[in-house]
Amino acid sequence: MTLANGRHYLAIPGPSVMPDRVLQAMHRPAPNIYVGELPDMVDGIVPDLKAVAKTDHNVAMYIANGHGAWEAALVNTMSRGDTILILGTGRFCLGWGEMAAAMGIECRIIDFGPQSDIDMARVAEALAADAGQAIKAVLAVQVDTSSSVKNDIIALRATLDAAKHPALLFSDNIACLACDEFHMDAWGVDLMVTGSQKGLMTPPGMAFVYFNDKADRARETAGLVTPYWDWRPRVDPAEFYKYFFGTAPTHHLYGLRTALDMIMHEEGLEAVWHRHATLARAVWAAVDTWGNGGPIHANITDHAKRSNAVTTVNFGQGNGQRLRDWMTNTAGVTLGIPLGGIAATPEGASAFLRIGHMGHVNAHMVLGVIASLQAGMGALQIPHDAGGLQAAAEVMAQG
Ligand SMILES: Cc1ncc(COP(=O)(O)O)c(C=O)c1O
Repeated sequence: MTLANGRHYLAIPGPSVMPDRVLQAMHRPAPNIYVGELPDMVDGIVPDLKAVAKTDHNVAMYIANGHGAWEAALVNTMSRGDTILILGTGRFCLGWGEMAAAMGIECRIIDFGPQSDIDMARVAEALAADAGQAIKAVLAVQVDTSSSVKNDIIALRATLDAAKHPALLFSDNIACLACDEFHMDAWGVDLMVTGSQKGLMTPPGMAFVYFNDKADRARETAGLVTPYWDWRPRVDPAEFYKYFFGTAPTHHLYGLRTALDMIMHEEGLEAVWHRHATLARAVWAAVDTWGNGGPIHANITDHAKRSNAVTTVNFGQGNGQRLRDWMTNTAGVTLGIPLGGIAATPEGASAFLRIGHMGHVNAHMVLGVIASLQAGMGALQIPHDAGGLQAAAEVMAQG
């Protein structure tokens, strides 16, 4: 018997739930791409995109996914043979490094493993060992969507400064922009990449590369830059088509406009961060309670190092897979599969699942996921402390 018929809930860590208003804004005939409403609207999107990242610097928009943003970041700052430092904390920064290596960039990799954040002492050692200051950029994710770890970008900046190292600081915020707090300028980030499909509540297909003047100076000598990916013409373009080097992603832009209105002008960015923080704490309260005396545990132990966008949970070997299947087939909720190092063994792959709580999500949606997980554990006889749902409700009650 299934109880899944009804509105299905895709609770994976991106693409996230899109507000009906975003979808409705996209449901329209093709607009004129030369004059009128669309070009006017895009000029207004740029300041809001900067505000959501807390920056006064530049943002270049691309018709691309996150991988496109990664490539754009690299081609605008690097030449073949340049050296970068990759700080792996799960899957995604390592993936950015694999792309860089394929482009002829030399990658020095520190892999902190799939259950840890960046250890700043080891970064300091790597910077100190770089006597000739060959490292041109240090690449990190603020949140790794596979492990659900949140890295301390402020501490990473401080580590670079303490080492008096001139490398650029690149931050991948694809998982967490508009979910976890981030201040590009105040935190000293030189370049940040993100995409439309997670905290920005818009379909996949737009990517954004933010860069400051120091990163733009690297563009002067970047040997890898190509006309399409060049960020310069995309910033304050004299002609509208240069924003996208061709036809604009017309309907995405209407969706994005609405999403930014909701985040920046209706709810407010600080309130959006607060909502995500509370929903995340409810998920953690449930997971931590379920695990009392049993095998269930969040992949990241320290709450301060967990993301407000996604939580990766170990339910015990075999149980993650069974629970995910039960959730899809019986409860109408699809959860995220395990990715990266935690899924490298068959045992890991069957133990973990990821709960997305990013974007257009509220208390009843998250409580629905938690309650359904608890029902699923009951149905599958996975040992757990049944106080988990109550613990989550208490967090929600406190707000
Ligand atoms: C942190 C992070 N970086 C990069 C990517 C890659 O983005 P995309 O799949 O849109 O290419 C993802 C995708 O989930 C991600 O979570």
